[in-house]
This record gives sequence, structure tokens and C-alpha cells, in this order.
Amino acid sequence: MLQVSGMFYTDDGVLTGPENTAGYTEEEIRVAGSVLGTVGAGQLKKIQREYMERHPHHIPLIFMADIINGFRTVFPIPLAQGCTFDPKLVEEGAAVAARESAASGLHLTFSPMADLVRDARWGRVMESTGEDAWLNGCFARAMVEGYQGRSGLREKGRIAACVKHFAGYGAPTAGRDYNTVELSERTLRDDYLPAYKEAIDAGAATVMTSFNTLDRIPSSANRRLMRDILRGEMGFEGVLISDWAAIEELCSHGVARDKEEAARLALEAGVDIDMMTNCYCRHLKELVESGAVSSALIDEAVLRILKLKNDLGLFEDPYKDADEREEKVLVLCDEHRKTARRMAAESFVLLKNDGILPLAGERTAFIGPYVANAEIYGAWSMFGTPETTVSIEQGIKNRGCGHAYFAEGCILSADFGRSEETAGKLLQEAVELAQKADKVVLALGEHRLQSGEAASRADITLPDCQMELFRQVCAVNKNVVVVLFSGRPLDIREICGQAAAVLAVWMPGTEGGNAIADVLFGDVNPSGRLSMSFPYSVGQVPIFYGQFRTGRPYIEGTEEKYFSRYLDIPNRPLYPFGYGLSYTTFAIGPVQLSAQQMRRTDRLRVTVTVKNTGTVGGSEVVQMYLADVNGSVARPVRELRGFCKVRLEPGEESEVSFEITEEMLRFHDIHMDYVSEPGVFRVFVGDCSETENGAAFVLE
Ligand code: NOJ
Repeated sequence: MLQVSGMFYTDDGVLTGPENTAGYTEEEIRVAGSVLGTVGAGQLKKIQREYMERHPHHIPLIFMADIINGFRTVFPIPLAQGCTFDPKLVEEGAAVAARESAASGLHLTFSPMADLVRDARWGRVMESTGEDAWLNGCFARAMVEGYQGRSGLREKGRIAACVKHFAGYGAPTAGRDYNTVELSERTLRDDYLPAYKEAIDAGAATVMTSFNTLDRIPSSANRRLMRDILRGEMGFEGVLISDWAAIEELCSHGVARDKEEAARLALEAGVDIDMMTNCYCRHLKELVESGAVSSALIDEAVLRILKLKNDLGLFEDPYKDADEREEKVLVLCDEHRKTARRMAAESFVLLKNDGILPLAGERTAFIGPYVANAEIYGAWSMFGTPETTVSIEQGIKNRGCGHAYFAEGCILSADFGRSEETAGKLLQEAVELAQKADKVVLALGEHRLQSGEAASRADITLPDCQMELFRQVCAVNKNVVVVLFSGRPLDIREICGQAAAVLAVWMPGTEGGNAIADVLFGDVNPSGRLSMSFPYSVGQVPIFYGQFRTGRPYIEGTEEKYFSRYLDIPNRPLYPFGYGLSYTTFAIGPVQLSAQQMRRTDRLRVTVTVKNTGTVGGSEVVQMYLADVNGSVARPVRELRGFCKVRLEPGEESEVSFEITEEMLRFHDIHMDYVSEPGVFRVFVGDCSETENGAAFVLE
């Protein structure tokens, strides 16, 4: 029998669903093969035991949940993880999440999200590692390897990964969640598919369909996408699960007349598990009996699911790693917290610094709605709690920073918090404190639920009450550092114009406050680089560094009219992909190539020197971009094809090398063949996507 995912709890020995949104009957619940969103070793062991006792088939349940950026130890949101440019560290974070989840009885996480994101209005950009296809591929692989390990899913402390949302979910029209996706076949293949492919090549056990249509066909009914591309071309052999209710939604899309037709379309497309609707369990049997669906399709799906359960070792031990004692010891243990603190600090991006940072123990006023707020773990962290999370205030106190004063200043947002009754008093207190202080750290940002699923925004500025606080504080103190919390790049033009320093900390997770103290006081030198451009204004989105050449390229600053430009805002983002400052300075030397000509079998070596020219130790992210000067189709102005994070002490110099292979130069050409084309390529190596430090070579 096929599976239904649902949220079930035991109630006097009966499996039931308090949030039974799918309207399952008790019998349907009884035949479900997986449970979604329930955690806890004790609870899951009990459910499994009763299920196994009741069912003569003795096929164990599989327990799944959204462990997106950590389980109880919460890591920074994926977009912030992308800013670390450190896949090893991200793999370590995923391994921690797997260990905690496995001990708590889980077998599978709905992560990584490998969707490419370029529109900051879309709330789910927080779940992606950013705007670059290649970088996303590196992180998707790292996460799969972190969750699943490399020795098979039976290994203790490992869980299965689920790559999502296949395909193209990151490009909803106008940035509105669940909206139509319009991508050309070439854009889909060159930009959107590679990160999913990387995760699949890393061995991801499962894939999730997306909610959107692609070429007007909803993914869960898209045979070509699922059978021909995902399974045929990309070689995926694992389990394909629908997104939440996506099979039933085929009716809302209007491609299925009723749930029976929806079930048939999804099964024919190759979807194995129906998440949270009863389309499969209610209709597949009759579809087979009437001859509308071949039983071979059911067998195929069932076999894939059984294989996954077998790979997890559930037939030998249906509880796998569920262990109450171990759960207690592992969850939020010091070692896990240490990794979370390190990752958070490495994900922060210093956007501006007039020299005011790091703080040095001056009289500092910490003001703002995020000073004492510990809800800094992102929209998907259902198992994070304020009680287990370190706020800025707590982090500063933990470090023992001398002259620190704290005030709330204003509420987070009129929509999400308390009423504005106390607004005047809060503001006055804050301004008085700011007046007396040498420096002010203003902790501002979006509410954690202003990003994530179903949280698209047309206006990506900070709430009025926070901007009012910002202006009033700046009026009485020039030494203002803004610590910015967000789940997406925001329009922060005014803030960056006036503040002396701006540190983007995203949603930093359990150890956020400690990590912020580490960076503000210079115990850790910031090394994060933007994984997604900060637009100058929402009018620019979707914006990304790897845009395509136009026939009328605009040169910034010129006044000619008939070029690809805006009349009222610049073309350039406020801060581009790959950008980020440090407390030290680095000098990257000229690009040296091992040859100027490259044969298709060659490996071209690209070398630069990088030197710490400042006074403190720090890490530089050296980035290599390639630009295909001429192609049979328009090519991106440049594409990331290598990066390396190097730690250097003051005065220290090191050599960094990258290798270029012919494979890295391929794209879908005019005939839709995946090839490289002979000709001139430019290589840029520098500290951000706008670097002009370059050289050129010719591919023969
Ligand atoms: C819907 C979301 O789109 C998906 O990412 C998530 O994994 C499922 N719900 C399950 O919670």
C-alpha cells in the first residue's frame, strides 16, 4: 500500500491526527506509511511500536520533519549559511542537526532547499543559500553529506535528505509565494537545475516536488520534468514526495477535475508519496481496479519506498537511533552550541564600517527591539525556543563588556508585537541613553515571521517605528552601529547612508547573541560575504550579479538615455553578491594563468597572491569568476566557478590557486546541447563579484 504523510499522535493507543487537515478517516490513518512533524524519541518509539503491533505486514513507519537550519540547536538560516562560503562548516552543521534529530527518532529531513533565489520579495529566499547556481550546488552537496554521511543511511546519527522543491520554485512571478514560474528551458537547465543535480549526485535519498507550475504544468503532474528530466537525465532513483497537499492542489491549478484525476496524474508523473492529502489512499485502489492506472506504477512507487526504509535499516531496527537518554545528552550540548556559534559569527556580513568597529569597551548603548529579543532563529525553526537562545543582551552580558546599557527603543513591528501605546516612552528612553553614550549599537530588523513560507513582501524596508528610532538616535549620536536582523536582503539605503557601521546578522540561531558579541568586540573578525545582493531598491528585483548582456549595456554614471537603465535609481545593487568587509584589509595580486591557450583536455591553473595588509588576523574569501566573451547565445556577464577562504595573520601572504576545466565552461548552446564553445574567456579573481582583477585565455 502507498503512504500518506500526516501528523499523528497517540491517544490511548490510537493513531490520530489532531491537525487532521487532510480529513483522513481512521482507516486511512492506519494505513499511512510515514509521519510528518512529530518529534521526540519516546513519542516516536511509542507510535512505531503500536503501529508495528497492529499491522500484520510489519513494515515500519518513517518519521519525517522540516529540520532546516538545525533541530534544537539552531544554526543560522540557510541564506546566512551561504554567506560563510564554507561548505565544510555547513556540512558540520547538517551533521549536528542529523545527530540531534536521529536521537529524537527522526529518519528524514526536508532539506536542503536547492532553489535558486534572485527576488528578495519572496519570503523563502531565507531557506536558500542564495543567488548563485554554483555556490548553491556546493552547499546542497555539503548539506546532503552532512545529513546522510558517506557510509549509508544506517549509520548511527544519520538521516535521509530531501532535495526540494523540484523544480524552479525559487522564481515565483513578482516574488509572490506559490505563484506561476516562467523560465525558459535554457534558464531552467543552466541556472536552476544544477544545484538540485549536485545534491542528487551527492546521493540525496529523496526529492520533493514544488508547488509551482513550470511551463504552465504543476510540478506534481509534470511527467516530463519528473520522469524524463529528474529520473531519466539526472539519474535520480530515490523516493519522490509531493509537497504539502500539492497533489490535491492539481485541482486548484485546474489541471485535474477531481482528486481521483489528481492522484492519477501525480502517479503517472512518478510521485511516490502523497504528502498530507488523501488523494492516493482514497483513489489509487479504484484507479487500478478500473484499469485506469497500471498496477506496475504502484509497484514501482512502493518498491522505492520500501528500499528507502530498508536503506535506513528500519526492517532490522524500526526505532533506528531513537533514544531518550542520548537525546537528552546530545540536544543542545556544548559541542553543538560551539559549532552554531562559530557558524553564526562566520555568516555575519559587515556591510559598512567607518572604523567604529570593533567596539573597545566604550560606554555603549545597545538599543532596539532585537536587543533582548531571543526569537532570532528564523521562520522554520519550530524546535528553537527563546529560552534556549542567546539574545544580544545576554551575549553582551556573557562576555562581560563593561559599560553597556540596554533599551528597547521601539516595538519590532506594529503587525507582530505589542500595541504602540508605549511608543513615546520607549523612544524617549532610548534617545536619552543614546545621548549619554559614546557609541550606540542599534539592533533592528524584520520579524522572523516576515520571511519564510507564505511571507512575501512588496515593501522590503524596515517598519516605520524602527526607522523613526533610527533617525532620532542618529540625530543625537553620530557613532551608530546597526546590527540588522532579516530573512532576506532589505532596502537599507537610508541606514547605510547614515550609520557608521552596518552588520547583517540574518537570523543567527541559538548562539546568535554570543556570536554577535564575538564580532562586535573583535574576538572574531567578520568574514561573511553576501550570498545574495542587497538591492538599491525593491524596483531592481530580481537582481543578481550574473545578469546577461544586453544590446544596450549601460555604463553607470553616463547620461545617455537609450540604454538598459532606470531613470530614477542606479543599475547596481547597494551591495553585490560576494561583498563583505573585514576588520583588516587584504591585497589580492594580479591574476596569473598557467597558459593563455587551453585545449579541451587541459586543466588551466589560475593563481593569485593574497596578503593581509592590516593589523589584525582575518579571513578573506577569494572568489574566481569566469566570463565567456562570445557565445552562440547571450552569456552571463560572469559566473562564479571557484572560491577559497584563507585565514591570514597581519603581514602574512599566501598563494591561492584554482583550476579551470573544460567542463566548467559548458552551457546550453543554440541547439540546446550542453557544450563549451571555443573562444576567449575572461577570468576574474577578487573579493567580490564586481572585481576587475582579471586575465584572459582562449579555449581551442
Ligand atoms: C511545505 C513546504 O513548501 C515544504 O518546504 C515543507 O518541507 C513541507 N511543507 C513540509 O512541512
